[in-house]
Amino acid sequence: MKPTQKFNPLGKARQLQNAFTELTFKDVHLSVSSPVYCPAEDSFLLAKAVGQFAVGSVLDLGTGSGIQAIVAAKKSEVDHVTAVDLNKAALSTAQENAKANHVEKKIVFVQSNLFENITGKFDVIVFNPPYVPVEAHEKLDDESMAWHGGATGRTVLDPFLSTFSNYLQPNGALLLLQSSLNNSEQTIAELKKQGFTTEVHSTDSFFFEKIFVLVAKRA
Ligand SMILES: C[S@@+](CC[C@H](N)C(=O)[O-])C[C@H]1O[C@@H](n2cnc3c(N)ncnc32)[C@H](O)[C@@H]1O
Repeated sequence: MKPTQKFNPLGKARQLQNAFTELTFKDVHLSVSSPVYCPAEDSFLLAKAVGQFAVGSVLDLGTGSGIQAIVAAKKSEVDHVTAVDLNKAALSTAQENAKANHVEKKIVFVQSNLFENITGKFDVIVFNPPYVPVEAHEKLDDESMAWHGGATGRTVLDPFLSTFSNYLQPNGALLLLQSSLNNSEQTIAELKKQGFTTEVHSTDSFFFEKIFVLVAKRA
């Protein structure tokens, strides 16, 4: 799981991702190998919220293995999913996984740095961002971009927060994975400043961090 990176840069996340992994979450079957992020507790917590809240058009930002996009696409209430990643290998993996789960016709795959190549507005935006605070000297590559959050853990999160509302329908919802590692109070304050109400949907705790899913809607 990626947060161990904070304590051991060559730790569990890297070991997990170097191996080819097959896993099942509910009725979703996934195959993943390096340099694509292997779904972990953060992914599963968010996927539960996706299973509950996804409707209409869904944007899955930083799709990785495609877990969130596929959970959404399996829902009859969801018409269409856009799955985005900066990492090309993640997009190929997500596409293969979508095929294996028979939902590829509902999902389009777009390579994009956050919203750079995205147009339109979505009913639900889902994001499990890279959020682990790391030392400046740690290099950013296809694998580390899955968890590397820069010095404060907010390098990707802050630009996301300042832009996402342009892509959200007026009654839309944001499902955002957050961690105690990267000042989630700042995230909640920023969302409130933009006129959103926030609710903690679910939480999970480990000895080194607490993770939770924030559901944000316009007040
Ligand atoms: C923690 S992983 C989450 C993967 C998957 N959504 C899940 O829940 O397991 C973060 C993902 O965001 C992608 N990513 C990182 N920075 C990005 C950016 N600026 N734009 C788009 N995707 C990005 C990474 O490549 C990675 O696939």
